[in-house]
Amino acid sequence: MTDANAHPHVSSDGKFALIHNGVIENYSQIKAFLVSENYTFKSETDTEVLCNLIAYHYAKMGAQADGQSPFLESVRKALHHVEGTYGIAALCTEHPGEIVAARKASPLILGVGDDEYLLASDASALVSRTRNVVYLKDGELVHIAGKDFAISTLEQADVSPVVDRIDWSVEEATMDGHDHFMEKEIFEQPLALENAMRGRFSADGSTAMFGGLNLTPEEFRNFNRFMFCACGTAWHACLVTEHLIERFARVPVEVDYASEFRYRNAPLDPNTLFFVVSQSGETIDTLAAMREAKRKGFRVLAINNVVGSSIAREADGGIYQHVGPEIGVASTKAFTSQLLLGAMVALYVSRLRDMSFNDGVDYVNALRGAPELVRRALAQAPRIKAIARRYAHYTDFLFLGRLSLFPIALEGALKLKEISYIHSEGYPAAEMKHGPIALVCEKCPSVFFAPKGEIFNKIVSSMQEIKARKGPVIAIATEGCELPPGLADDVIEIPDCHEAVLPIVATIPVQLLSYYIAVERGCDVDKPRNLAKSVTVE
Ligand code: G6P
Repeated sequence: MTDANAHPHVSSDGKFALIHNGVIENYSQIKAFLVSENYTFKSETDTEVLCNLIAYHYAKMGAQADGQSPFLESVRKALHHVEGTYGIAALCTEHPGEIVAARKASPLILGVGDDEYLLASDASALVSRTRNVVYLKDGELVHIAGKDFAISTLEQADVSPVVDRIDWSVEEATMDGHDHFMEKEIFEQPLALENAMRGRFSADGSTAMFGGLNLTPEEFRNFNRFMFCACGTAWHACLVTEHLIERFARVPVEVDYASEFRYRNAPLDPNTLFFVVSQSGETIDTLAAMREAKRKGFRVLAINNVVGSSIAREADGGIYQHVGPEIGVASTKAFTSQLLLGAMVALYVSRLRDMSFNDGVDYVNALRGAPELVRRALAQAPRIKAIARRYAHYTDFLFLGRLSLFPIALEGALKLKEISYIHSEGYPAAEMKHGPIALVCEKCPSVFFAPKGEIFNKIVSSMQEIKARKGPVIAIATEGCELPPGLADDVIEIPDCHEAVLPIVATIPVQLLSYYIAVERGCDVDKPRNLAKSVTVE
């Protein structure tokens, strides 16, 4: 990052300033053309190229804008020549009091405040000033001029604006006495889970209900496969959902990284229901995977947190997470609510198929109890903080778990590396002997998920293998569960719970461990280096 590459960029004639989120793919051809037209460049960015292209069209247009604003028309013309993605906002010295903004595949929201307009790529940036917003669609431009604004398309068609209301408050976007957003978001998970499940159980208490699927129960029952696509943490949530759907509903599920799916042209059974999972609803790879699935005729449902996001708007139906804004880059409450909703989808499908009424009631009661169990897991925070202090200096970690906790091992390793920059790997505990065991020594701690259950003894043997090689062991084990003496250096207890709730509860200790280790190392927890909350470029 250099000053020259920082936004805003200014055109070489000094008339335009531009900020841009996205990637202009054909910028080198455009730049070569502009250089031949004597435009000069101070940076290496595609944004400066776009800014100069706007200046070029403005200069060429003169007063010939067909009664339209020459500022608006020069941006529109420039965008016609651009390939790639953008969310932009431009100023022009000759049109003071005006802004032209536009989007294609990068998010852009217009805030309609009292005597002011605001532009942002995420609603959380606006909510302290206004809760009235217009979610711009792909290929739309907004022209703000004094007290007015007008929306039009790249093809010059006028668009009537729809002003939506953000239904969460500014308090939800502040830290509320916590040191970091991540800490606040970890501790608000009991409430977030309550919000995510609110009103979503049937009156007889035996299944889940979702208002926005746009599918009848019969249609849902007739799908004989599910495909889930997502990125990052949301992909881990999909892996847990796969486990629960296959375990309880006995329907085959496939999970793929959205970035892989969009290019690998996978053969899919036509009777597949496609899900995308995304906190932001703006991750470009997930959006592209969804468009690819829709192009091929699949019905796509979205599990998504940000209301009005691109994914929410383009999906055929979906389930909102309702956990309020998540500001910390490392996802926490969005993840556990995705786990919860995934578990509820598994329940819904199971009850449409073979699951009995009584098992459904037990499952629902277990999910209803999840917030309280998460509260109990959070009560371990002081103990986990003390453990984190002792482990913060290590440079390598393994996270090991089995079955539905293997994705939680992946998530634990991801959380730790994201915010503390410690190398960490998540692995299925038994697979560890096929590679990662070579890393094990007194300098490489292993975090083991050891819940009680059928394979508890197998996990104990994996721990023994680590201990025999002098690897420090932190065990996350069920309350009251007896681990052989001397096997774990530290034990973090979690409450005993139903299989559908276990991944949610087991996530809490690894979130806290990563958080406290990162704090101990003095890391910028909420804004880890090189990472973005929402990745809107490929
Ligand atoms: C980024 C974030 C992750 C997130 C991923 C997917 O990498 O840093 O925390 O899991 O994007 O984001 P989404 O908004 O699609 O869930």
